[in-house]
Amino acid sequence: MAADKKPFERLPTDVVPTNYKLELRPDLKLFKFTGTLDITMDVKKSTNRIVLNSAEIEITSAKCGGQDVTVTYDVEAETVTLQLTSDLAVGETTVSMEYTGILNDQMRGFYRSKYTHPDFPNEERYAGVTQFEAADARRALPCWDEPLIKASFDVTLIVPKDLVALSNMNETSCEDVEGGLKRVMFARTPIMSTYLLAFIVGEFDHVEGRDSNGVLVRVFTPTGKKENGQYALDVAVKTLPFYATYFDIKYPLPKMDLIAIQDFAAGAMENWGLVTYRERLLLVDPVNSSAFTKQLVALVVGHEIAHQWFGNLVTMEWWTHLWLNEGFATWIEYLCVDHTHPEFEIWTNFLSREYASALNLDALDNSHPIEIEVGPPSEVEEIFDTISYAKGSCIIRMLHDWIGTENFRTGLGSYLKKFAYKNAKTEDLWASLEEASKKPVATVMNTWTKQMGYPVLTVEGKQDGNNRILTISQKKFCANGDSSGHESVLWQVPVTIATSKNPTAVKFVLESQSTTVTVEGVGQDDWILVNPSRQGFYRVSYSATLLSPILSILGQLSAQDRLGLLNDTFALARAGVGSTVDVLRLIGSFISETSYTVWESLASNIGSLARLFSSTDCYEDFKRFALKLLTPSFARLGWDSKDTDSTLDTMLRSLVIGQLGRYGDPDMISESKRRFSDHVSEKDAIPADIKSAVFSAALSGGDESIFDHLVALHDKADSNEEKVRIYSSLGNGKTETLITKCLDFATSDKVRPQDLPAVLMSLTRSCPDSRERVWKFVQENWTMLKDRYNGQFLLARMIDVSTAGFVSEERAGEIEKFFSENPWPVAARIVKQNCEAIRLNAKWLQRDRDIVKEWLASQ
Ligand code: BES
Ligand code: ZN
Repeated sequence: MAADKKPFERLPTDVVPTNYKLELRPDLKLFKFTGTLDITMDVKKSTNRIVLNSAEIEITSAKCGGQDVTVTYDVEAETVTLQLTSDLAVGETTVSMEYTGILNDQMRGFYRSKYTHPDFPNEERYAGVTQFEAADARRALPCWDEPLIKASFDVTLIVPKDLVALSNMNETSCEDVEGGLKRVMFARTPIMSTYLLAFIVGEFDHVEGRDSNGVLVRVFTPTGKKENGQYALDVAVKTLPFYATYFDIKYPLPKMDLIAIQDFAAGAMENWGLVTYRERLLLVDPVNSSAFTKQLVALVVGHEIAHQWFGNLVTMEWWTHLWLNEGFATWIEYLCVDHTHPEFEIWTNFLSREYASALNLDALDNSHPIEIEVGPPSEVEEIFDTISYAKGSCIIRMLHDWIGTENFRTGLGSYLKKFAYKNAKTEDLWASLEEASKKPVATVMNTWTKQMGYPVLTVEGKQDGNNRILTISQKKFCANGDSSGHESVLWQVPVTIATSKNPTAVKFVLESQSTTVTVEGVGQDDWILVNPSRQGFYRVSYSATLLSPILSILGQLSAQDRLGLLNDTFALARAGVGSTVDVLRLIGSFISETSYTVWESLASNIGSLARLFSSTDCYEDFKRFALKLLTPSFARLGWDSKDTDSTLDTMLRSLVIGQLGRYGDPDMISESKRRFSDHVSEKDAIPADIKSAVFSAALSGGDESIFDHLVALHDKADSNEEKVRIYSSLGNGKTETLITKCLDFATSDKVRPQDLPAVLMSLTRSCPDSRERVWKFVQENWTMLKDRYNGQFLLARMIDVSTAGFVSEERAGEIEKFFSENPWPVAARIVKQNCEAIRLNAKWLQRDRDIVKEWLASQ
């Protein structure tokens, strides 16, 4: 970073906008646009200077209240100063500007997204699309690009007559303009933040419906694919009224559009009334989509629609409170899918997806508190991370459980009503929930948002007649097992204790370091369970006498509790507090497990162990252990789907086939190759649900011809889901040549920039050699990657993928050195986290290698 960098400052607010009247004329051939902008402003303090954000924009004329204006840009601060000759009087005034901008290929601001039309497959066409969060509205119009500075927008687009033009609001008029163009005007938006503004121009088909409150819902797809929008439409039509009822506030806009965009950096974006998605997170093909994709689409739609209230109607006052936006939406997307799609048993999934990853990351010294000071855009991007999303959602869930559904809804409703069309801070939500529940919400929650990490609760028990007296103490859970130096850190922990007779036998908030509680009516041999359903964000370490009765009834516990116990035991062993052999024994006891989600966690834990041992001489024994565990499930599920399969059985089948392939089951590999060849020759198509697993297994035991066939399938595929499926398989080749071919393919122009991480990830997951190659590739191509991902957060993603999962001190040092010589601030924390995890892996291997080897050999 340059030494003379100015400290970040927020915009002055002596003049603030109340309305932007914006007319844009994009040129989809020359990749430019011109804009005409009238901003009505409220001058709060007399001044002759207006400072607003602007980046890569050239203002060609500017006038304010009859005065000419001098325009000066500050490129680094991304601001423009409009200097007037005389002071503006307090009150309303208007500034009018004309400007030009770039329809860039960086997937931010107003950018171009490449596509082909089915009737003209060899012609590259472009749509004009926006992505403004966190701070890129300034690339489309000069504006006060901060969430607190809300205003209304009147958008007009001038575009070729035959294209679809969309914005946040409904179209109010459309008239022909010379040159084969049309002028489309949209209704005025409510008062809102700039990052939620959106406009889109291109060729799209759509399906539409109305929700039970009469709101028009449309799903826009690429031309010729409108049937693939039907699933998301059905989901959205159920989701909108679910939230309107839940929040007790009508959806405030007249329409809700969902649209699939082909070049798209994030997963999805909640623009008010015009939500954008990556194609594979919105489109569902009735035949060629997997159950997994449907689940994902339901979750993502649930997430973005929740933001229409929580985020759009009430917005965080600054990015420091981003976690509230994202953590809340991540929590409620599960609540919503549980309502719309009970068959997914989605809350169990929450534990393997959000809860487990948050606990893992937040145990590192290089984690960070949920609430964190952020300044310039690069710092803002850095916090769209697992802590904001996953940990954020976990502590909301804990809070919800602690104060109860009714209080939670009442408090939330009053918060949303009180701050509607305004901004709020974390404390504002706590205050509303506190009022509704009469519980000390802020005091408890501050211990979770303002300090990083979480506790492990150590539980010991003593029998006293028909009572069990428990001693429960807390200390920070550290991934390296050493919490010394953290003795004074305490959390206020909502604790629930379950017994076989009462799922909520005891409930209290642990405030001190240690306490005793009496659980009544528990016999000598009865089990007690702390933190049932894993509502609390902490780990539990039981004494041996408390643990053994739980283990003896493991199969009777809920899937959530089985999974929680498994993950805690695993984490304690990794931290060196428990034994890795005990973990392997525990994993082994899941041999009859039937829950898809528990299997997801098993697979993830087995995967971590596999990574650890994959370069050691016990890896063959390890693979045998994994295969033995998988065999009964495969025997039960088989290759082919049955009418009696639940959705979760279908998903489990694909997981089990994938795992058998990963750990090299010879029958699985040869049968996969056979099925692959029948698929390629169009004799017998592989069903969507198991495709990815079969592709991977076939390539892992195959040669270049399989790779080439996969690439041919890729080139022919017209859905992004199919392409991504192939990306996640393509790294599974084990030879030098196949790894090289995969890297070459990854950087060819066949792969859209946003999909490159998926290809690299497939390699890093495959075997130690390909992981090394990816890391080497990133180092050698650093300049190219930096140029290609200029300023985008996707580069951080790539850095994450390429530096995670190593097991040697040497590699950690090398990674640190590389990024100290080639700093990339947005990924700085990720690099630290990954290096810390690598060193923990190295220690773990050193510590347990011999006993694990011995145990595996004895099996
Ligand atoms: N607000 C985000 C989109 C976003 C992410 C903007 C990162 C800028 C930077 C959106 O609501 C979101 O969270 N999208 C997720 C998908 C979601 C279902 C978890 C994403 O893009 O990963
Ligand atoms: Zn979100």
